[in-house]
Amino acid sequence: MTDEHDWEATAGVARRAAQAGGRIIASSFPTPDGTGVDHEPRLRIKDHKSYNLVTETDEASEAAIVAVIQDAFPDHAILAEEGHARTSDAEHLWIIDPLDGTNNFAHGIEHCAVSIAYRYRGATRVAVVHNPLRDDWYEARQGQGATWNGWPIHVTDAASLDEVLVGVGFYYDRGRMMQATLAAIGDLFAKQIHGIRRFGTAALDLCFVASGRFGAFFEYRLAPWDFAAGSLIVEEAGGVVTRADGRALTLDAGSVLAAPRAIYDQILPVIQARMHEFGL
Ligand code: IPD
Ligand code: CA
Ligand code: CA
Repeated sequence: MTDEHDWEATAGVARRAAQAGGRIIASSFPTPDGTGVDHEPRLRIKDHKSYNLVTETDEASEAAIVAVIQDAFPDHAILAEEGHARTSDAEHLWIIDPLDGTNNFAHGIEHCAVSIAYRYRGATRVAVVHNPLRDDWYEARQGQGATWNGWPIHVTDAASLDEVLVGVGFYYDRGRMMQATLAAIGDLFAKQIHGIRRFGTAALDLCFVASGRFGAFFEYRLAPWDFAAGSLIVEEAGGVVTRADGRALTLDAGSVLAAPRAIYDQILPVIQARMHEFGL
């Protein structure tokens, strides 16, 4: 396979895989009348030092997504949150978060997503982030722009931090990382931002930057499946995505800062300073 690869076909597989995972999420989500739903979701604490949750739906969604991809491309590698092979340097690599926003899902909040990125030779070529509870689709292909439900999207053209909302995430850490994040939020309010939003689904936070609703998003710790798809969507919508200290984003980055260039240049010093101060 070469760089003239059939991206349309690959995007079609990504979409079908996201739909398969999304159906599972939507069908296990609580409805107001309580019908047709197997809820309470069975929760497990993944990491006992924190509050990192997983439900049976995360695992079922992942199995459905992986089945679609493996059926189409049996020789491609998979890096998926809930346990499929942890390869990250394969020529053809699919990076999957089968349910981003598990905490929202587990508490009946309709803000969660399936996130799927396809990488070829170390670069993300195709990205899909799908919120099945709103039937929202954010998609991008390298060099071809980003869309929301088929409509082209672009980052905000606001020129200054005092014109925008900033999205933030806390990972599951309740220690230094949270202190650094809270300190950075204080600094941003001092710069007269319109407000902070912590919506709890990093893949969608990045799509909110891509569609101009957030002027910036940052989080001091994220895993590749949280940002692989969303970062291409931001870049294809005209934004900049790096680590929170300004270094280039790689799969093992650990942190993310995303914004349009003008806002990025203003927010980076704040986010970077608190990161260094708290030894992150
Ligand atoms: C989490 C969400 C959350 C972010 C955490 C992630 P999960 O992913 O994206 O917004 O703050 O850092 O781990 O566990 O719901 O897939
Ligand atoms: Ca996630
Ligand atoms: Ca997840």
